[in-house]
Amino acid sequence: MSTKPDIRAYMNALIPDIDRAMDRYLSENAEIPSRLLEAMRYSVYAGGKRLRPVFAIAVAEALGGERSGVMPAACALEFIHTYSLIHDDLPIMDNDDYRRGKLTNHKVYGDAGAVLAGDALQALAFRALADSALPAPRVVRMIAELAQASGPSGMVGGQSADMEHEGQPVSMDVLSYIHRHKTGALITAAVRLGAISQGADEGTLASLTVYAQSLGLAFQIMDDLLDVTGAEQLLGKAAGTDAKAGKATYPALFGAEQSQKMVTDLTDQAKSALQGAGGLLERGTLTALADYLSARDH
Ligand code: IPE
Ligand code: IPE
Ligand code: MG
Ligand code: MG
Ligand code: MG
Repeated sequence: MSTKPDIRAYMNALIPDIDRAMDRYLSENAEIPSRLLEAMRYSVYAGGKRLRPVFAIAVAEALGGERSGVMPAACALEFIHTYSLIHDDLPIMDNDDYRRGKLTNHKVYGDAGAVLAGDALQALAFRALADSALPAPRVVRMIAELAQASGPSGMVGGQSADMEHEGQPVSMDVLSYIHRHKTGALITAAVRLGAISQGADEGTLASLTVYAQSLGLAFQIMDDLLDVTGAEQLLGKAAGTDAKAGKATYPALFGAEQSQKMVTDLTDQAKSALQGAGGLLERGTLTALADYLSARDH
């Protein structure tokens, strides 16, 4: 009998908790125009794997923490991620019509509605995080880390480079920059916020950062691969769009086979990094999460 944790069951059990927690910040409020709130809720509750909240919670729990303490951070991560997807799909960016199995936000609420829903979710993320019932110095550090990871030196920087290099040949360094920033930065923030919420020491934080950076890059390489080989039905978004848009991707630069090998190698690196965490971590869930992501089909 395998003692490997059933990561799918773990994630499925977490998702309703995360969804309920986010609802607290997305409830009717006389100050919010109803159409704006509807547009925000439309994309947040369109589905989605909730991977970033799961990472934050899994790390906090691996360090012996309570789920409730990290939940505001988990919500904040999903709000930032959802805002990034709404803006990523806009006609002036990737121009996509489907996301999470539904029409994209701008297809339903118009370009201005989608821009504003994204803006609103970004601000709401920091409002949620600031509400954390954790020691104030930890909360301040978490706010600073999320701002850094999602802003110009993080996700937005990666998105900017992604757009700038559309239709151009890119070097491996540029491609790696794009992927580590547009996607890796927020996944790394998810893991680090989970650890900081528990007051993890710097050594543990450093090991977890290597784990997260490896998985963050692997995650975007896999996203590129799924754009080539994946099934739209499972993905909930169109496939084959990267080549049409001339996006800088790993399969375009290295081919599918080599890219798949990179995902495997990065996953191994991520798992080895956990060994460095000095036995502090209950490693089962985090190892299982790495394996699960390396074989994902959506
Ligand atoms: C898609 O992210 C965009 C990337 C950063 C690669 P996810 O694959 O996590 O999308 P959802 O949240 O499940 O919809
Ligand atoms: C998106 O990368 C990264 C962010 C939204 C920050 P992609 O453009 O490859 O994501 P998908 O494929 O549209 O989900
Ligand atoms: Mg994009
Ligand atoms: Mg896109
Ligand atoms: Mg993609």
